[in-house]
Amino acid sequence: MSGVQNLNWPLMLNNILPADARAVADFLCPEVPILTQSSQVEAFEQEWSQWLGVDFSVFVNSGSSANLLTMTALKEIFGLGEVIVPTLTWVSDIASVIQCGFTPVFVDINPRTLGMDIRQVLQKITSRTKAVFLTHILGYNALDAHILAELEARKVPLVEDVCESHGATFGDRKLGTFGLMSNFSFYYAHHMSTIEGGMISTNDLQLYETLRMLRSHGMVRESKSAELRKRYRGKHPDLNPDFIFAFAGYNVRSTEINAIIGRSQLKRLDENNKLRTENLLLFLNNLDSEKYRTDFAVEGSCNYAFTLVLKSPDPVLCENVMRALQQHGVEFRRGTSGGGNQLRQPYLKKVVGDKEFEKYPVVDHVHFYGFYIGNYPGLERDKILQLCSLLNELTGKEQYHG
Ligand SMILES: Cc1ncc(COP(=O)(O)O)c(C=O)c1O
Repeated sequence: MSGVQNLNWPLMLNNILPADARAVADFLCPEVPILTQSSQVEAFEQEWSQWLGVDFSVFVNSGSSANLLTMTALKEIFGLGEVIVPTLTWVSDIASVIQCGFTPVFVDINPRTLGMDIRQVLQKITSRTKAVFLTHILGYNALDAHILAELEARKVPLVEDVCESHGATFGDRKLGTFGLMSNFSFYYAHHMSTIEGGMISTNDLQLYETLRMLRSHGMVRESKSAELRKRYRGKHPDLNPDFIFAFAGYNVRSTEINAIIGRSQLKRLDENNKLRTENLLLFLNNLDSEKYRTDFAVEGSCNYAFTLVLKSPDPVLCENVMRALQQHGVEFRRGTSGGGNQLRQPYLKKVVGDKEFEKYPVVDHVHFYGFYIGNYPGLERDKILQLCSLLNELTGKEQYHG
């Protein structure tokens, strides 16, 4: 095989820098201030809203908590029914739908965006549909003008999961500004990291107040609206005003320390994202398009991972890819986002049956023949080119038997 040596290429590198640690140290000295959710969290939320282009944001302790809160808020405001979800996404996107009592309705994916097949989404909307809960997979925009117009016309709320796509755009707007609510994750291998963390963003004031309360036990005093607090107090004179629980909420708050790291990281997010985009284009432009899919929807994309999907279902090439990556120290994940076809997972087979996954062939191809590889700002161009040569040299079943 090629002269490529160990590439020493992890999924993510240096996402939390000494500058972030210094920001935390400065905050902790000389006197340790309040560390539970307070003014730093508030400042991070405001800076995030400004960066994204929305009115309100709510910082929580993970992207999964963001998923759970958005589905809970949806239930509180619109009631129960069906939620249309992707077959390729993270477990908590589907788990939150089920945990809140909605019926998940699945659609296959578009091979170019890895997001939901929009034609199927529109076919599956009924009078029972409460929302389309769409995931932008690994930095690729999954929206188009048609779905936005149709959802608006049919009055179906859109919830965007942008946990894997911070900074990606559709047209001149960032993903996460199109939905009624949008979710972000700041877990370590994402575009930026608060160690653990997540954000929910919205332009809807009622949802914002609901999400704030849901984040903290459903407590009314978490609402910023004096009028809302007064209304609850008036309606419940037998209750201590500090302890009125409007919803069966959660405690998914984060801390001041996580917010400090987030504020420090946000300063370099755009700059890092530019480098990631250059990396992805270099990767896709140098891959052999006869063996691998290179026609991803890159316009406006912003990826923290390279998507590597075999063009045809070729188990020999697939084995060779995995062996080559392992031998050359390139960390990877199978199935792209979330481990592939969610309908093959035991937690979901219990809900939808053992055979449901068979109806979604496009995601099943990605499940078996798709991978992702880390894309971080300091990744050297030379390494990317070496990886492409390595992958392009690999042979599959045609060549193997031929
Ligand atoms: C699309 C998507 N949604 C939600 C999550 C959950 O985020 P977290 O790991 O912060 O809980 C992830 C996690 O990686 C994700 O990829």
